[in-house]
Amino acid sequence: MGSGKSTAARAVGLAAVDSDDLVERSAGKSIPEIFREDGEAAFRRYEEEAIALALGGGAVTSSKVRGALGDTLTIWLDVDVDTCWERVRGSDRPLAQDEVEFRRLYEERRKLYAEVADVVAHDVHDVVLAAAGVLVERGALARLGTLVPGEGPAALVSDPHVAGIHGMDAQLALGPRLAEQHELPPGEEAKTLAALDRLWQELRLDRGGTIVALGGGCTTDAAGFAAATYLRGVPWVPVPTSLVAQVDAAIGGKTAIDLPQGKNLVGAFHWPVRTVIDPALLETLPEAQRREGTAEVVKTGLLAGEPLWELPDDELVRRCAAFKAAVCLRDPRDEGERKILNLGHTFAHALEAAAGYEGLTHGRAVALGLLAALRLSGRDIGQVEEILRPTPVRVDRERAWQALLRDKKSAGGEIRLVLLGDDGPRWDVPVPPDDVRRELDRLIA
Ligand SMILES: NC(=O)c1ccc[n+]([C@@H]2O[C@H](COP(=O)([O-])OP(=O)(O)OC[C@H]3O[C@@H](n4cnc5c(N)ncnc54)[C@H](O)[C@@H]3O)[C@@H](O)[C@H]2O)c1
Ligand SMILES: [Zn+2]
Repeated sequence: MGSGKSTAARAVGLAAVDSDDLVERSAGKSIPEIFREDGEAAFRRYEEEAIALALGGGAVTSSKVRGALGDTLTIWLDVDVDTCWERVRGSDRPLAQDEVEFRRLYEERRKLYAEVADVVAHDVHDVVLAAAGVLVERGALARLGTLVPGEGPAALVSDPHVAGIHGMDAQLALGPRLAEQHELPPGEEAKTLAALDRLWQELRLDRGGTIVALGGGCTTDAAGFAAATYLRGVPWVPVPTSLVAQVDAAIGGKTAIDLPQGKNLVGAFHWPVRTVIDPALLETLPEAQRREGTAEVVKTGLLAGEPLWELPDDELVRRCAAFKAAVCLRDPRDEGERKILNLGHTFAHALEAAAGYEGLTHGRAVALGLLAALRLSGRDIGQVEEILRPTPVRVDRERAWQALLRDKKSAGGEIRLVLLGDDGPRWDVPVPPDDVRRELDRLIA
């Protein structure tokens, strides 16, 4: 009671079904009335019948309910008793009338909660990550063997560079479950049909096996696509090792390879059975790769309305991963809200295309794109300038403009962008082409 269950349910896009509401509906009277007229035992009987997505705090005192939870993901939102009491005191909830009794119940039920919980969450971000199957934990790599769901064999797929640094730890952690090992070429070369063809032919797993992808976003994108397609789909577990992959690429279930015509043109939505994020792996990441990820971190912080980039690594990764996971849980197929994740990217893609994908990294292009998006949103660009220090690129202006129009051509010749409004990000906002062109030009030296 008072832990924030309904808020957490809304964050992952579930209608928060409060068992109390269901009880009131099936009993035809309010909870205070049930307690007064029929007693707590009757209330628990109603609750057993009504239990659905959200559990009232007392529901697990019923062994029938505990049994029913068996193979359902059960998240314990463990919030300290003072916070809970602050939230419920003064309400008409029968079990929140007396503080001493409330605290006694809280202590008494903790044991039961611990018994039924698959995951212990301490805030809404933890709940989101649990719902998305994402674990963010320092040292998680060493526990990989127990974190890959099921008991079947695992095929480890990694990039050769990362394999040299963290491959041995992953092998040891997988132990006897490690059945086969494969390497993808480094970088974007992994995301080619040739690399996929080789991997498909090398794989020996049957449907009972799991693909484990260890590496940056190129590795997780390509191995995830192999998992989506091999034998019409096998389970997969990304273990992202770059900042880009930990806060972005390995979250949300998009997998893809590139075509000569463009990036990510062939792919599939294939949500991992679990994502294992160990922020300690970032300690071996080169500074230039770190900067690539920081651009996406700043993007995420702007969308979330909080300076997430100021947080220490473990918390920075947890919050950014949770933000993206929440958006993707609410819009898994990229049909609406998920578009906000493209903040600044219309400009970034245009600049990258104009540069011929050479000499301009995605991170630098995103940093510039964020400047344009912020200016068009009427926002201050000071923070982005200070953290990402974007400098204008030397590309052909007309080529960049044509690339942007190709990317964004829409009915009526309108250009629709993600902008930051006063109450959060908005997508599909029509912006006059002259304004877009002006802001694009300012990014070009
Ligand atoms: N699926 C999605 O939703 C999504 C989202 C964002 C980006 N992406 C994709 O991600 C890719 C970019 O990902 P990336 O930047 O991680 O590229 P990457 O996979 O090429 O990794 C970058 C470099 O860092 C090295 N590296 C990775 N982890 C390391 C570590 N712990 N220690 C030392 N070196 C390490 C790699 O070997 C590589 O050289 C792009 O192809 C992009 O399209 C996908
Ligand atoms: Zn990006």
